[in-house]
Amino acid sequence: MSASTDDRGPDAGLRPPAGELRLVDDVPAAFAALVAAEAASASRRGDGRLRLALSGGDTARSCYERLSELAELDWGRIDCFFGDERCVAPEDAAANQQLAREALGASFRRLGAFHPMACEDPGGYAELLRSQPTLDVAHLGLGPDGHTASLFPGSSGLEAPGDAWVVRSSDPTGRNPYERVSLTLVALARFSLVVFTVAGASKREALARVLGGEDVPAARVRAGRVLWLCDREALPGEPR
Ligand code: 6PG
Repeated sequence: MSASTDDRGPDAGLRPPAGELRLVDDVPAAFAALVAAEAASASRRGDGRLRLALSGGDTARSCYERLSELAELDWGRIDCFFGDERCVAPEDAAANQQLAREALGASFRRLGAFHPMACEDPGGYAELLRSQPTLDVAHLGLGPDGHTASLFPGSSGLEAPGDAWVVRSSDPTGRNPYERVSLTLVALARFSLVVFTVAGASKREALARVLGGEDVPAARVRAGRVLWLCDREALPGEPR
C-alpha cells in the first residue's frame, strides 16, 4: 500500500508533505531492496555510479546491516557520503561513519568510495558534493522531535544562509548530544531521491506530526522524489 500525495484512498490522511508514504512490513529489507534497485538503475546511466548519502541512528544501522547482506550488489559502483555527522573522533562509537563501517561489515571494504564528513571542514564537504556529477539517494531518519539528519527544531542549520550545503548545527535543546555537521535542506533538495526510514511505535508521534502537516524539520525536506518507508507500528492510529 502506498499513500502518495495524490492518493484519494482510505488512507488519504496519511499523506507526507511531499512524495509518497509506502507501508512495508520490514523497513530495513525494503530499504536494501530500494538501494539495490537504485544502484541497478544508476548502472545504466551516466558514469554508472550510485552516490548514496548515509544517515545515523539505530534504524540506519539496521538498514545498513541488511544492505550489507546483498552480496550481488556491485559495491564498487557505490560511493558513500553522509547526510550528517557528530563532531567526535572517527572511530568513536557515536560517529555515523563508525556506525556505517560496523554495519556494512565486509561490504564496507568493497565500496567504490567512502567520504566521511569532518566537522572541521563543512565547506570542503559542500564542495565535494557540488563536484559530483549526480547525487542519487539520501537516506534520512526521523527523530522523536521531528528532526532529520542534524536539522533539529530551532537549530541554526534549518535557517542556513541561502546556498549553504553543509553547516555545523546542534540541537539547541541539548536533547540530542554532540555538536554536528549536517546537510542543509538546500543540499538535500539536490538529491534525486530522499528516502526516510521510519520503524517502530516510538516514531508514531513524530510521524503523526509530519503527516498532520506540522512544520517539523523532516517535513521541510524536498528532493527530486521523497519516499517514506514506514512500518505499521510507526503509523499513527494503529492499535498498539
Ligand atoms: C543522527 C541521525 C539522526 C537519526 C534520527 C533517527 O546522526 O543521529 O542522522 O537524524 O537518523 O535521530 O534515529 P533512530 O533511527 O535511532 O531513531
